[in-house]
Amino acid sequence: MESKRFMGTLHCLAGVALALFLSAPALAADDSACLECHGSRQQVTDAASAMDLKLTPDRIGKLVVQPAQTGTVHEGIACTDCHPKATEIPHPAGMLQGNPCATCHDDALKELNKSSHRDPAGGSQLRAECWACHGAHNVRSVKDPKSAVAPINVIGRCLTCHNKRAYLVGVHGQAVQLAGLDVAATCVSCHGAHDILAPSEAGSRVARRNISFTCGKCHGRVADVYRKSVHGAALMADDNPDVPTCVDCHEAHGTPDPTTPRFRLASPQICGRCHSNRTMMAKYGLSANVYNTYVADFHGTTAELFRATSPDQPLNQAVCYDCHGYHDVESVRKVGQAQIDKRLLVRCQVCHKGATASFLSAWTEHYIPSPTRYAPIYWVRVFYRLVIPGTIGFFLLYIAVDVWGRRRNRRVS
Ligand code: HEC
Ligand code: HEC
Ligand code: HEC
Ligand code: HEC
Ligand code: HEC
Ligand code: HEC
Ligand code: HEC
Ligand code: HEC
Ligand code: HEC
Ligand code: HEC
Ligand code: HEC
Repeated sequence: MESKRFMGTLHCLAGVALALFLSAPALAADDSACLECHGSRQQVTDAASAMDLKLTPDRIGKLVVQPAQTGTVHEGIACTDCHPKATEIPHPAGMLQGNPCATCHDDALKELNKSSHRDPAGGSQLRAECWACHGAHNVRSVKDPKSAVAPINVIGRCLTCHNKRAYLVGVHGQAVQLAGLDVAATCVSCHGAHDILAPSEAGSRVARRNISFTCGKCHGRVADVYRKSVHGAALMADDNPDVPTCVDCHEAHGTPDPTTPRFRLASPQICGRCHSNRTMMAKYGLSANVYNTYVADFHGTTAELFRATSPDQPLNQAVCYDCHGYHDVESVRKVGQAQIDKRLLVRCQVCHKGATASFLSAWTEHYIPSPTRYAPIYWVRVFYRLVIPGTIGFFLLYIAVDVWGRRRNRRVS
């Protein structure tokens, strides 16, 4: 009862205030005047009905603006600094056109105009407006954890325009959201803020050549090792577009945890994507059979079976990187056969304790046996290929002749 009467009085007061505003030709440049109509849903509704405007509930919600909170950066700035025409009631059309931030933050605008979010005409109509990232009201210091561009918040800002939701389930997205690890990568750590450029532009943080440096800001040692590998060196030396960089093996946005059985089981396919591509491998004089031969041998058969049937099952069989490494992959050709044999045995011994040099010969490497390589295995296979169908064929023929013979005998008798 009490509160109802109070509200009634308030409405009455608001009505008087409105009447005053409507009769006055223009408002004083004082925030409190604006907040008489914009301070709450009720005030906006009353103002709209007094002005004969039909507003949707959604629109009313948007028109409610709280006074600048303490601790925000624009505390001393008046509503009219950004909305100079708002003193006219009813407001003139087009009040939200133009960029009110540019008058005081010219430097930021200049930076933005060199980025992918630039105004195509070089003005202040940016593809991503300043307030799409910072918010319009109650802007906070970029170092404030409550700011719209703080790691946990900026993700949502970028996602409203870019469909990169995969990020949310990747290692970095999970680390930021669940573990509160603000040092893990957000959109801004990999793309920048005012200087974001498309991957196709040479100066972009995510241009192929630069990716290892961008990841390397946080994964420095991994990136150093990678750039010395056969893959990284080729990218650095010749801008080779065929060799993998970090995101070809890890995905840029949905980065899966590479220490899981699932990743391990899927890894031969990551390497196989390129190493079974005949056109690509022919350019480098490399065999494109390394994936087929792997899948056909004792290690690969099990890996493939697990991947297809139970992708989360731990795998104790060798995958490509148990023999070749991953960030430090070397050229097998340059290393030479003698070194390979020596080093390879050590790799086998990780799982096959007590394996000796002769153990290596039990494996045909990546070769498909032929009369010149692994000849005994080749001839044994040829033998079986001929003898098994031959034997079965002979017996089938034998049975057919027998059946035919018996029928004939029956008819004759
Ligand atoms: C008498 C009430 C009243 C006062 C006082 C008032 N406004 Fe408004 N304002 C409105 C209403 C109603 C609308 C919605 C108009 C519409 O949708 O056509 C509005 C809309 C706006 C908009 C959005 C315009 C657009 O094109 O979407 C801005 C910005 C705005 N007001 C700023 C201010 C500022 C700043 C002040 C103080 C200088 C102020 N208003 C004072 C009633 C008022
Ligand atoms: C630092 C500049 C700045 C100041 C100060 C500022 N505004 Fe705004 N305001 C903006 C921008 C930018 C937008 C456009 C936001 C958008 O389009 O999402 C906006 C939008 C609005 C809207 C329309 C919201 C909508 O979605 O249509 C209203 C109403 C408004 N402001 C009122 C106020 C009032 C009242 C004050 C003072 C308490 C104020 N503004 C202070 C920059 C400012
Ligand atoms: C794509 C999102 C985005 C847009 C658009 C954007 N900013 Fe920023 N801005 C940020 C982020 C993120 C930071 C924090 C800097 C960092 O982490 O490197 C920042 C930092 C700032 C800073 C403080 C640091 C500095 O550079 O002085 C100011 C001021 C600023 N922005 C103003 C603006 C203005 C004005 C506009 C429009 C011309 C704008 N921003 C557009 C994301 C954005
Ligand atoms: C009337 C001038 C003025 C306008 C208009 C203005 N700003 Fe500011 N802005 C300032 C001042 C002054 C500061 C405080 C600078 C400082 O602390 O170094 C500031 C600080 C900031 C900061 C925090 C910078 C930091 O170091 O963390 C951001 C972000 C920012 N403004 C964004 C905006 C955006 C977005 C708009 C438009 C919606 C805008 N500003 C409009 C004057 C303005
Ligand atoms: C208001 C919507 C909006 C917001 C918010 C926004 N962007 Fe954009 N962004 C765009 C538009 C529009 C383009 C230009 C698209 C084009 O040219 O294809 C663009 C371009 C880009 C590009 C270049 C893409 C390409 O292939 O050309 C990147 C990268 C990018 N934005 C990242 C970000 C990041 C990171 C954030 C958050 C910090 C962000 N954007 C926030 C709208 C937005
Ligand atoms: C760990 C680093 C990293 C993070 C975090 C990251 N990106 Fe990217 N992003 C990249 C790389 C690298 C590329 C270019 C290569 C590619 O797409 O594989 C890229 C490409 C893009 C592109 C342009 C290409 C396209 O596909 O249109 C957009 C837009 C983009 N990212 C937006 C975002 C947004 C939004 C977020 C945050 C939700 C984000 N990125 C987080 C590294 C990252
Ligand atoms: C701003 C710093 C930062 C940047 C830039 C960054 N990362 Fe990370 N990354 C982290 C942090 C921190 C973690 C640890 C997250 C956790 O353990 O939950 C992580 C985790 C990872 C992991 C999982 C490691 C594990 O042992 O589970 C991979 C893979 C990874 N990052 C790849 C990349 C790639 C690829 C890029 C570049 C496209 C990149 N990161 C850019 C900070 C970063
Ligand atoms: C040729 C594929 C490939 C490339 C290129 C690659 N990685 Fe990896 N990375 C892997 C594999 C496979 C693992 C998982 C090894 C394991 O732990 O079983 C891994 C593991 C990781 C880990 C977890 C820690 C560790 O060393 O086990 C991080 C972090 C990482 N990579 C980051 C990067 C970054 C950053 C780059 C680029 C500089 C990069 N990777 C390039 C294949 C690759
Ligand atoms: C059990 C260890 C082992 C595994 C598993 C293995 N490799 Fe190899 N790989 C070798 C050895 C030893 C050589 C050198 C001898 C040879 O050419 O067969 C080699 C050679 C290569 C070569 C050079 C081929 C050439 O034409 O010179 C490539 C490329 C390669 N492997 C990729 C892969 C890929 C991709 C996988 C997984 C699908 C894989 N390897 C799995 C041991 C292994
Ligand atoms: C994006 C394609 C791509 C992916 C993914 C890839 N590679 Fe490569 N790899 C190449 C290309 C191209 C070369 C040839 C580079 C050169 O010779 O300059 C190469 C070279 C090699 C070599 C050296 C061959 C020699 O003797 O010169 C080995 C070994 C190798 N890769 C193993 C791997 C392994 C193991 C993986 C997975 C962990 C992998 N690669 C993933 C494209 C790829
Ligand atoms: C990551 C562990 C791992 C590595 C490294 C590894 N293997 Fe194996 N390998 C296995 C497992 C597990 C089996 C299946 C054992 C079983 O079924 O008894 C296997 C089976 C074999 C077999 C089939 C005969 C047997 O013992 O069952 C041969 C031959 C073999 N490996 C050779 C090699 C050679 C040669 C190397 C080194 C170039 C190597 N392996 C490296 C895990 C590994």
